[in-house]
Amino acid sequence: MCGIVGYIGKREIKSFLIEGLKELEYRGYDSAGIAIIENESMHVFKAVGKIKNLEEKAKDFKTKEFGIGIGHTRWATHGKPTELNAHPHLGEFSYVVHNGIIENYKELKKELENKGYKFISQTDTETIVHLFEENFKHKKDPFKAFKDTISKLKGAYAILLISKASPNTIFFAKNGSPLIIGKNSKNEIFFASSDAPLIGYADEVSYLDDGVFGYADKEKIKAFKDSQEINLEFKPLTMEKEFAQKGGFRFFMEKEIYEQSRVVSETIMGRAIDGKIVFEELEKNFFEGIENIKICACGTSYHAGLSSSYLFERISKIPTSVEIASEFRYKKPLLNKNTLFIVISQSGETADTLEALKMAKNAGLKTLAICNVDNSSIVRIADKTILTRAGIEKGVASTKAFATQMMVLWMLSLYLAQIKGFDISKEIDVLLKVPKVLIVENSLHEKIKRLSKRYLHGHGFFYIGRDIFYPLALEGALKLKEISYLHAEGYPAGEMKHGPIALADPELFTIALMPKNLLYDKIKSNVEELSARDSTILAISPIEFEIADDFIKIKEQNHYMLEYFEMMLIIQLLAMEIAIRLGNDVDMPRNLAKSVTVE
Ligand code: M6R
Repeated sequence: MCGIVGYIGKREIKSFLIEGLKELEYRGYDSAGIAIIENESMHVFKAVGKIKNLEEKAKDFKTKEFGIGIGHTRWATHGKPTELNAHPHLGEFSYVVHNGIIENYKELKKELENKGYKFISQTDTETIVHLFEENFKHKKDPFKAFKDTISKLKGAYAILLISKASPNTIFFAKNGSPLIIGKNSKNEIFFASSDAPLIGYADEVSYLDDGVFGYADKEKIKAFKDSQEINLEFKPLTMEKEFAQKGGFRFFMEKEIYEQSRVVSETIMGRAIDGKIVFEELEKNFFEGIENIKICACGTSYHAGLSSSYLFERISKIPTSVEIASEFRYKKPLLNKNTLFIVISQSGETADTLEALKMAKNAGLKTLAICNVDNSSIVRIADKTILTRAGIEKGVASTKAFATQMMVLWMLSLYLAQIKGFDISKEIDVLLKVPKVLIVENSLHEKIKRLSKRYLHGHGFFYIGRDIFYPLALEGALKLKEISYLHAEGYPAGEMKHGPIALADPELFTIALMPKNLLYDKIKSNVEELSARDSTILAISPIEFEIADDFIKIKEQNHYMLEYFEMMLIIQLLAMEIAIRLGNDVDMPRNLAKSVTVE
């Protein structure tokens, strides 16, 4: 995820911006840049890769007097990680940094190009600075021009803009991406996308709400919402950096679970438009001649792949097989050119997945990567990539990466159905509801915290589900075992009576995924069979289930995928709360690495 910093005051600005960007490194980035105005002169430095490259480029520059500056770390979404695509983006006399995605940038860009504006990057962000300068031509007032610019933008953004037209002012706007303003008794003003860069500098901070925009200079901060001036509420700033990086959560895993609603919105953004799925990254003819799909991945990504095979067959009507990459590599697989080969990977560096991809490429198959890290090895090798846009995932236990993979795969299944001429508009309506489903309600989290104390022992957990809820059961079991070190298995519910039911007793915990919208009666009888053999049952369902020992009620929905995403959230929280009670470091579980680059 991109990071933003900004500063107004007399401090040496370059150092503040660069130190601030370092504090945001944990969010992940692939290029960085800063722009400063001092004495009406503008200075800009950008570099690809680590912040030390930026430091090197700017090493001979220092500010001496009052000035303003903005800085940015970029996590590529539109266009490769290059210096031209790095922020700040320049117009003729202004610079902008932006987090988020401008959904309607193509239309805006076209209009601006027709007016003669030249774009030098592939980003959506560059549109903002040209639009501001175009508006300034007519309004002659920088704030009015900024306000008009913001009113034209659709999508998510946190924006800082500086301009020679008002060289002591930073213009800001926030909608859907975080932005904080800080201040102190020395009349300094700070901006950042999280607390960490402000610690030790700002005394108090204001966390901007969506829809807020305004400007700040050395004398004042003016904020507006719906064209009305508003008073910003400032609070004292916490002084612990690590706490700030975790956004106040106990673990990165917890923070990442809570981020899912937002990052899934970003995954969807610009890709579900007017009842259609749009993947700019895929040419129309990419799927020509494709008769079936093979998916290869490891761990959680494999579970996303397995889940999606139900969607590709049901929605796109394309035969789909899924394989664990480490198995696929050595089985001397038969590969046909009418197969689309999809690899799924959060990191883009998983050795087995990478090798499987190379094998498919060498066999002449079309290859598609679903990946979270642009420019990773997998992305570089695959013919095409769809980025999942989850932002950096720090917890070893994958959570938001899985949620965004599932969203991309669901959208891809719809995209393929759309190519075949099927009506997918109703499914798109459902898909747009997912971000809401993923908001973690306090009452739910508290309930799971309380329940978790009953599941710290026993001789094993069976997560069971049917259809697409079976791979979700596998994922629930993987989450639990990797961070709690308790034994857990995922199983197709209908298969329990073919062996595993022999294990049933009160010390065998069954976590039953019981959606209302898919095979409810079938899973119900499978769970009854286990209950009759005295297994302890934790049922997750919108329908009350009397014989369950414990019950987590999900919301009534009219589509199984909404139930899928809510249950995903619950199994993640459950695993985390059990592991925390057992005293484990859930972000860095024993024996595991975040990126598995060896076979
Ligand atoms: O980066 P990848 O998605 O390729 O990683 C695959 C697995 O190593 C990963 O999903 C692993 O299973 C996670 N720790 C699960 O939480």
